[in-house]
Amino acid sequence: MSDFWQTHSMHYLEMAFQTDRCEVLENPDARGRNKGVCGDTIEIFLTVTDDRIQWVSFDTDGCISTRACANTVAMMAEGKTIAEAWKITTEDVIAYLETLPPESTHCAELAVGALYLALTDYQAGLKNPWKKIYRTKAGAGIRGD
Ligand code: FES
Repeated sequence: MSDFWQTHSMHYLEMAFQTDRCEVLENPDARGRNKGVCGDTIEIFLTVTDDRIQWVSFDTDGCISTRACANTVAMMAEGKTIAEAWKITTEDVIAYLETLPPESTHCAELAVGALYLALTDYQAGLKNPWKKIYRTKAGAGIRGD
């Protein structure tokens, strides 16, 4: 375990263990749930005001690298417009974390994919605002909480 602390960057460690964005929102402005080939899932929740992302939270049952990637995506998306958030890439996440293991690249893809699905959900909601009325808790929480 001591290798873990010595081989990871401060960015990776901070993003891996930060917990303030680990939150299931019951009534977000948008959500995106993505399941990876490894079987892990990330669900991202967006709070948006005037086309600008105010808050991003997530739920995941994935590994520590998944948490690091989800936190990084959330941090990068906050404060951005929807159009700006579409420009966040897997490469951006990997570059920020500095020490994401090569075998965990798919964790970054999973997190960015969840963001893209949430952005798609937001834009679909703009076209069909009545759909938000019918949202239920059904999609809330990977562990059903
Ligand atoms: Fe599955 Fe990290 S190992 S997303």
